Amino acid sequence: MSENNERRHRVIAIDGPAASGKSTVARKVAEALGFLYVNSGAMYRAFTWLALDRGVDCADGEAVKELLAGTEFSCEVLDGAGVVGLDGRVAGDEVHGAEVNAHVSQIAAWPVVRDQIFEVLHAFPSGHDVVMEGRDIGSVVFPDTPHKFYIDASPEIREARRRAQGLEDSIADRDRKDSTRAAAPLTIAEDATVVDSSHLGVEQVVEAVVDQLAAQGLPEAVRRG
Ligand code: DC
Repeated sequence: MSENNERRHRVIAIDGPAASGKSTVARKVAEALGFLYVNSGAMYRAFTWLALDRGVDCADGEAVKELLAGTEFSCEVLDGAGVVGLDGRVAGDEVHGAEVNAHVSQIAAWPVVRDQIFEVLHAFPSGHDVVMEGRDIGSVVFPDTPHKFYIDASPEIREARRRAQGLEDSIADRDRKDSTRAAAPLTIAEDATVVDSSHLGVEQVVEAVVDQLAAQGLPEAVRRG
């Protein structure tokens, strides 16, 4: 095995609640470091979209399980991002619609769904260094990574951000469901660096994350500083 293949691939975990700004920040950090960007929420959204499209009741565990068993999940790399393929199809902007927003937390609460997405997320780092964002990346999916961040913002500011995007989203409802579910709830990992983005611009949050990574000795972040 070559030296390059023996190197362990790195994971930067960026978690946080809905509309905290973590997607934009994670994508920019990935670009800055030359890492693959992986949005785990988009995977829960893609499967939720599929369930709605097939007329599956998201509250019916057996029906969700059946759909899951009949769907082939694959890892795809598209424009510098790691995305999930469902039966070979990569979802588009439709996963950000109001219907998906209203049902995704219900789908994400099913442990069988989480187990499946967990497998997909673990399949990426075998070939890539990644910046991965979500709710449980630092706490459950990659608990051993030393690079963990939790991007927060006040509920009022997060609601305002969604309104400014012209998107209908039940932030408070998703916050409650994502934080109180039994399986891998949204939580701040003990060793995560918390960044409150309420009164910061995107570039300032990116800088805070990259500075912390440089302080942790991540070579790509040190070179950028
Ligand atoms: O990041 P987002 O708002 O696009 O995520 C959509 C939903 O997916 C979120 O409300 C809960 C779920 N999710 C999750 O349960 N675990 C993750 N790691 C990422 C998202």
